Amino acid sequence: MGIAANIAEDWHAALAALAWQVEAGADETILDAPLNRYELSAEAPKPLSAKASLPAALPSAPGAADPVAVAKSLAEQAPTLGALQSALTAFDHCDLKKGARSTVFSDGNPQARVLILGEAPGAEEDREGRPFVGRAGQLLDRMFAAIGLSRTSQNAETALYITNVMPWRPPGNRDPEPAEIAMMLPFVERHIALVDPKVIVVVGNTPLFALTGTKGILRARGAWSQALGKPLLPMTHPAYLLRNPSAKREAWADLLSLQARLR
Ligand code: URA
Repeated sequence: MGIAANIAEDWHAALAALAWQVEAGADETILDAPLNRYELSAEAPKPLSAKASLPAALPSAPGAADPVAVAKSLAEQAPTLGALQSALTAFDHCDLKKGARSTVFSDGNPQARVLILGEAPGAEEDREGRPFVGRAGQLLDRMFAAIGLSRTSQNAETALYITNVMPWRPPGNRDPEPAEIAMMLPFVERHIALVDPKVIVVVGNTPLFALTGTKGILRARGAWSQALGKPLLPMTHPAYLLRNPSAKREAWADLLSLQARLR
C-alpha cells in the first residue's frame, strides 16, 4: 500500500474516531488548563435520590445572575410560542447549549388537545432540530397513531403537540441534572400554558420529575394525576419500550386510557 493510500486510510480512521467521540458526548477537544486525571478523586458521583427536589435557586458566583430567576423572567414575559422559542434560543446559562447543534423547541400542532413532554433531544433530534425523530420517535408516532393521534394532523381533535424538558442534547445522552431541569422548568411551564392542552402525557422519568418532583416512571405509569392544573398521564419512554418490548402491553393500556379520557 502506497503512502497516499495510508494517508487516506488514516484520514478516514481519524474521522471515524472523532465521530465516535462526538457520539459518546465529547464536546471539546482541549481544556483551558491541563488536567491531571491521575489526581482526580476516585469517588463515584452520588446517585439522585428517588424524591430529590429541584433546587429553587442555583448556587452562583457573587454578582452572577441566578439562571432559574433569569429563565423565569424571560419565560413569563413571552406572550407567544414564537417569543418563547426566541427567549429559549437566546438563553445562555445552560452549558448543554454549548455542545448542541440545535435548540429543539417543539413539533406538531399547537391547537392539539394532547401535549407530549419528553426528556431531551438525542443525536437525530439535535441534527434535525425537531423532537422525537429518531427510532424512539418513530415508535412514539406509531403508538399514538394507533389511537388516531398524529403530530401532522391539522385537526385539534386528532393532533399532537410534542416538546421536551431539555431543548439541548445532553452529552452522550446522559440524564439531565436537577439543576439543568430547574433552569428549564420556567420555559416548560410557560410552554404548556401557551399551548393550553387538555391533557399532558409525560414520557419517561425526566418529565415526570420535572412536573411532579417524583421519579419512578415504572410505578407511576398509567396513573392519572394533575400537574399545572391539567390531567397528567405518565407513560414509559418509547426508548424503554424498544429495549423492553414486553412493556408494550402496559403502554397499550395507557394509550387506551388516554383515548377514553379524550372521548
Ligand atoms: N427522547 C426524548 O425524550 N425526546 C426526544 O426528542 C428524542 C428522544
